[in-house]
Amino acid sequence: MKPLKVALLGCGVVGSQVIRLMHEQAGDLAARVGAPLELAGVAVRRLGRKRDVDVDPALLTTDAEALVTRDDVDIVIEVIGGIEPARSLIVSALSRGKSVVTANKALLAADGATLHEAARTGRGDLYFEASVAGAIPLLRPLRESLAGDHVKRVLGIVNGTTNYILDKMDSTGASFTDALEEAQTLGYAEADPTADVEGFDAAAKAAILAGLAFHSRVRAEEVHREGITDITATDVASAKAMGYVIKLLAICARSDDGRSFGVRVHPAMIPRSHPLAGVREAYNAVFVEAESAGQLMFYGKGAGGAPTASAVLGDLVAVGRNRLAGTRGPEESTYADLAVHPMGDTVTRCHVALDVADKPGVLARVAELFAKHDVSIQTVRQEGHGDDAQLVIVTHRATDAALTATMEGLRELDIVRAVASVMRVEGDE
Ligand SMILES: NC(=O)c1ccc[n+]([C@@H]2O[C@H](COP(=O)([O-])OP(=O)(O)OC[C@H]3O[C@@H](n4cnc5c(N)ncnc54)[C@H](OP(=O)(O)O)[C@@H]3O)[C@@H](O)[C@H]2O)c1
Repeated sequence: MKPLKVALLGCGVVGSQVIRLMHEQAGDLAARVGAPLELAGVAVRRLGRKRDVDVDPALLTTDAEALVTRDDVDIVIEVIGGIEPARSLIVSALSRGKSVVTANKALLAADGATLHEAARTGRGDLYFEASVAGAIPLLRPLRESLAGDHVKRVLGIVNGTTNYILDKMDSTGASFTDALEEAQTLGYAEADPTADVEGFDAAAKAAILAGLAFHSRVRAEEVHREGITDITATDVASAKAMGYVIKLLAICARSDDGRSFGVRVHPAMIPRSHPLAGVREAYNAVFVEAESAGQLMFYGKGAGGAPTASAVLGDLVAVGRNRLAGTRGPEESTYADLAVHPMGDTVTRCHVALDVADKPGVLARVAELFAKHDVSIQTVRQEGHGDDAQLVIVTHRATDAALTATMEGLRELDIVRAVASVMRVEGDE
């Protein structure tokens, strides 16, 4: 059988594991695809760099464009990352009718439309399972298995670095800075952790998930994003005392009328009894709620060379089979064309801790302010007395705009010395 020729762009953490697995599992992969998979070339930035895998030096090139446009190449795997040159290379390959497998969430979330359009006109496949939650099969279930259902909500932990940091803060009482330092020492966080701790990485994944779940096009810039850098050991301890744990969540949820959806990434308190609360260390987990299927949970390793390469190889087998059968996988589905609603319209709940003067009438004035903004209070608790008095309030569901206006009002009340912490509450409605 004529082999399918594969061009690999990038030979770093993921690319080197793709080469290893293609080599070690060559026989099984050939049997599953129906033809051998042959590495046609490997594009890198630095030819002389030491690699984590043995690569035939004759396959290495710095001319990625020449590699993807070679007539004999059938499939291109892009694991370079970033926007350019990845976008131009993928478009070059797709417009020549080749199939592409990519793990590049940043590019898909910034400009997925260009890639999908190139796949449509070139009549090749564009598969990207590894771009969200690494090894966890999540995009294919959304794209295919749930194609007959109506997804209402996707709620998940999609960034292992921040989950590791928050988990350490929760289990050891460490500060954000100390937990980040530990994550960096252990290789869970990059030297520049901005993309993870400020929520950019999770926001790109949320955009991809929302697009698939709601059959609409979503760009990263439409995702409401808050990171975890302001979370203190006190926030974590206070959540713990109330039976909650703080997680960085990606949440994509249809509005009640089904005409729009919200997509957001922010830290939130979830009850310790929620399945996502048990997701420890650098693991990822995503909870999907669909009308007929009900609640589904996907859990596993969200990053790392081998786990991510597993997802890449799964896609490689799928696009290989499609090529041999002369068919294609599903195209981008954006027919619903729902709008992303602003964060202010999102319905959520809030936990707020107020440093207040311990004197008669304080509670009444605080309650009056909540009522003014139509935010109803679920629980209120006073901790300490005198100068140390703190009111801890958990609200019922309200729009984020009403909650934000309430917090602003509280900051202006003379009886409130400080709004010590504000955190959204999810997962127990
Ligand atoms: N690492 C993970 O756990 C993980 C998980 C899920 C998704 N992903 C995604 O997978 C992709 C790759 O991540 P990674 O961690 O493997 O990155 P990486 O270790 O930094 O590797 C990037 C590779 O791309 C090569 N490269 C960079 N610029 C290039 C250019 N202009 N032309 C040709 N080659 C170029 C580099 O060459 P040199 O080796 O010569 O420098 C390197 O081999 C990213 O999109 C990332 O978001 C990664």
